[in-house]
Amino acid sequence: MLALRDVSVRLIDPETGVAVNALDRVFMEVEKGEAVVLVGESGAGKTTLLSVAAGLIRVTAGSVFVGGRELTWGDRGQDRWLRAKVGVAFQFPERSFFATTVREEVGLTASLLGWEPERVTAAVERALSAVGLSFNLLDRSPFTLSGGEKRRVALAAALAHEPELLLLDEPEVGMDLRGQKHVRELIQRLKNEGKALLVATHDVDAAMGWADRCVVLKKGRVADTLALTDPWPEGAGARLAPYSWDYTLLRRIYREAHARGWTLPDPHRARDRFLAALTARAKNPAAPGEAEDFPKPMEGPQ
Ligand SMILES: Nc1ncnc2c1ncn2[C@@H]1O[C@H](COP(=O)(O)OP(=O)(O)OP(=O)(O)O)[C@@H](O)[C@H]1O
Ligand SMILES: [Mg+2]
Repeated sequence: MLALRDVSVRLIDPETGVAVNALDRVFMEVEKGEAVVLVGESGAGKTTLLSVAAGLIRVTAGSVFVGGRELTWGDRGQDRWLRAKVGVAFQFPERSFFATTVREEVGLTASLLGWEPERVTAAVERALSAVGLSFNLLDRSPFTLSGGEKRRVALAAALAHEPELLLLDEPEVGMDLRGQKHVRELIQRLKNEGKALLVATHDVDAAMGWADRCVVLKKGRVADTLALTDPWPEGAGARLAPYSWDYTLLRRIYREAHARGWTLPDPHRARDRFLAALTARAKNPAAPGEAEDFPKPMEGPQ
């Protein structure tokens, strides 16, 4: 669905004139029905990569393919086609807001694509429900909403026209815990519907439940790519540790529990089950564990 072939993007800071290789010879792909999480420190190039995939930044070298079609710059026919194919939720939603009401903002792309008004209305309502936003907000200005509400509006706007490829830039930022859970479930659902998802985040722990693959960017380069299979590939935990807040803590608890002979699910593949099993164990230490989850020696705690 999305393929980057040897993509480089050189950006020049307009004030200082300093050039940065925001992306440096990047190869990557996202298939239909696949969710890929993009991690990396600030400035690693995540937003740049998403913007390239959305056809918003021109590449300095290399090729970008969406749905098998190579993107070319300045082709208006292609821009329209791409708009239908791709949904983008930006890192700073208010920078992309355009309309005077939530209704208009969420339905903007569908309207631009020439959908009938009734179809746009239905799409807007469906998208609002999907992100858990009340219809009471429909006539509010998107600019006056709370941070978390703005995020949800941006997400709804990305989804409403039912694109096949979704590009989400730190979608969970600024949301309360319930909102974050909602986003995780939404991503899972979109993936099950066969969409291709590329999601930049600093919360790799939260991505564990839905991500099939993780791409690590470092200074514009793909520094690592991991398939997040169950169980994890050898050494994956340690490779992701710099991007994981609770990796170390959960791993330590897991190791302690393991040393006591407690059989618990892997905390990263199944965090909720891990915590539930741990609580049950703490209440009743003599209960039998989840035998099928007992790690084999090679996959054991590190
Ligand atoms: N418009 C621009 N002009 C010049 N340089 C830019 C521009 N936008 C981004 N950069 C530079 O490109 C590099 C990559 O930035 P990018 O925004 O893609 O990082 P990021 O991984 O999304 O970071 P964050 O986690 O902070 O969002 C950085 O060095 C940044 O300073
Ligand atoms: Mg960014």
